Amino acid sequence: MNIISCENLTKTYGSAAAPVHALQDVSLTFEQGSFTAITGKSGSGKSTLLHLLSGLDRPTSGEVIYQGKNLFSYNDNQLSVLRRRRFGFVFQSYNLVRELTAQENILLPVMLDGRKPDEAHIGHLIELLGIEDRLSHLPGAMSGGQQQRVCIARALSNKPAILFADEPTGNLDGKTGREVLSLMRTVGKELGITLIMVTHDLGVAEQAERVIRLEDGQVAEDSGAVSI
Ligand SMILES: Nc1ncnc2c1ncn2[C@@H]1O[C@H](COP(=O)(O)OP(=O)(O)OP(=O)(O)O)[C@@H](O)[C@H]1O
Ligand SMILES: [Mg+2]
Repeated sequence: MNIISCENLTKTYGSAAAPVHALQDVSLTFEQGSFTAITGKSGSGKSTLLHLLSGLDRPTSGEVIYQGKNLFSYNDNQLSVLRRRRFGFVFQSYNLVRELTAQENILLPVMLDGRKPDEAHIGHLIELLGIEDRLSHLPGAMSGGQQQRVCIARALSNKPAILFADEPTGNLDGKTGREVLSLMRTVGKELGITLIMVTHDLGVAEQAERVIRLEDGQVAEDSGAVSI
């Protein structure tokens, strides 16, 4: 079953006289529960594609269809609620709130939604990610790998349908990066989450079920194209 797709997605930056075609006419479909890596050289449009698919940014033209509806037909407020409830994000730069403990960071998306945390789910995430003994620490007192595991727990605290990750292992050493990636895969599979991850590391991409390579804002290769 398809969970999210995009049609003729295009993003152009700059002026009409000097346009930068960050993404050109990209159409893709993602299967529910699948793990896809998006690769390509620096500037090929990976982050742009991820930001558009996840509704963090709006395209110049084209659509992103989630649950049968174009994301960009929602207003900003509706879109941010949908993003908070259905999508999780992990970035290269951790993005934890410095003043909050690991536990408070993990609970933040649920609190922002004004909901009661699902203690069993969050406890399970904390256990799967091995961060039980870091819960009262501030981000500054944690290693990069620990901070990234807290980010993954935070991204999954609302039980999202899709986890988007932009270079999640980019700031970690090789061994820690592989551990974090493997945790993301395990947790993703266990919870049935669709994982869409940007990486320029081919070793990391190899772990995915499908690899899409971008070149100059277009799909140059797709190992697992799904017919629409
Ligand atoms: N806000 C912006 N304003 C102008 N140009 C932009 C903006 N964001 C991205 N671009 C341009 O769009 C193109 C694609 O950028 P993007 O960030 O998607 O690349 P990327 O593949 O993620 O690169 P990297 O591996 O370095 O993160 C690049 O040419 C970039 O310079
Ligand atoms: Mg990028």
